[in-house]
Amino acid sequence: MTPSLKGQRAWVFGGSSGIGLASAQALAALGAGVAIAGSTQGNLDSALKTLPDGTRGFAVNAADGAALAKAFTDFGAFDHLVVCVGGGSAIGPYRTLDEAKMRAGFDNKFWHYQRITMAALAQLRGAGSITWVSGAAARLAIRGMAGLAATNGALHAMIGPLALELAPVRVNAVSPGFIDTPYWRKAMPEEARAKLYADMAAVVPVKRVGTPDDVGQAVAMVTTNTFVNGAIIDCDGGRHLGG
Ligand SMILES: NC(=O)c1ccc[n+]([C@@H]2O[C@H](COP(=O)([O-])OP(=O)(O)OC[C@H]3O[C@@H](n4cnc5c(N)ncnc54)[C@H](OP(=O)(O)O)[C@@H]3O)[C@@H](O)[C@H]2O)c1
Repeated sequence: MTPSLKGQRAWVFGGSSGIGLASAQALAALGAGVAIAGSTQGNLDSALKTLPDGTRGFAVNAADGAALAKAFTDFGAFDHLVVCVGGGSAIGPYRTLDEAKMRAGFDNKFWHYQRITMAALAQLRGAGSITWVSGAAARLAIRGMAGLAATNGALHAMIGPLALELAPVRVNAVSPGFIDTPYWRKAMPEEARAKLYADMAAVVPVKRVGTPDDVGQAVAMVTTNTFVNGAIIDCDGGRHLGG
C-alpha cells in the first residue's frame, strides 16, 4: 500500500532548513498539512517557498516555553511531531571541554527537544507519532565527539520509555550520519568544508556524505509506518558499523 498522510497534520520543528526542511517536504508530499518552525523569519520565508500553499510557518525560539505553547495552540490538534532543531554542540577533545560547554550542548539540543515535545503533547492526537532527529555520534565511538555523543545518547535513552508511556502515540528517533546541510555551510569556509566532506565520505561504506532528502525519507518512513515504534533508525550510509 502506498503510504499516505492525507487528512493528517504534522509539525516539523527546525523545518526551515536542512534535514527539517527535507522532512517537511517529504511529509507534505505524502499529503500532510504541515507547520514548520524555526527561530528566524527569513529562513521560514525561504523554506515556505519550497512547500505547498497552505503550509504554516511559525517563528518560535525553542528556548521560549510560552511562545511554544502559543504556537501549538494556534495550529491546533495535529498527528505527527518531528523535532529537528539544530544548534551548537560540545564538540572537541574531552580535555578541551568544560561544564559550560557541555551544558550549552545540552541546552541547544536536548532541552530544546524536551521543551518542544512537552508543549506539543496537549495538541498531539492519540494515533500519532513523535520523531526526534538525533545523531550517529550517539552510537559510534568517535574521538572528539564525547559531548555530542552525550546529548544524542540522552535522547536515544528516552525513546523506549516514552514509546511505552505515550502509547498509542509512537515514538522513534532517526539518527543521521554526516549530512550536507546549511549548518556546515555556515560553520566553515568552502575549502575546509570540501576537505571535511571528502574525509567523511571516505569512512562511510557508501562512500558519500548524506543529503537532507536521505534523512527526510527516513523520517517519512517512521511517520507513516504504524508498526515502527520505540525504534532508533540509523540513516548514515552504514557509518554506525565502524570499521
Ligand atoms: N547536518 C549533519 O551532519 C547532522 C548529523 C547528525 C545530526 N544532525 C542533527 O539534525 C538536526 C538538524 O541539523 P541540520 O544540519 O539540518 O541544521 P540546519 O540546516 O542548521 O537547520 C537547523 C534548523 O533548526 C532551527 N533552529 C535552530 N535553533 C533553533 C531554536 N533555538 N529555536 C527554533 N528553531 C531553531 C533552524 O532555524 P533558524 O536558523 O531560523 O533558527 C533550522 O530550521 C540537528 O539536531 C542536528 O544535531 C545533523
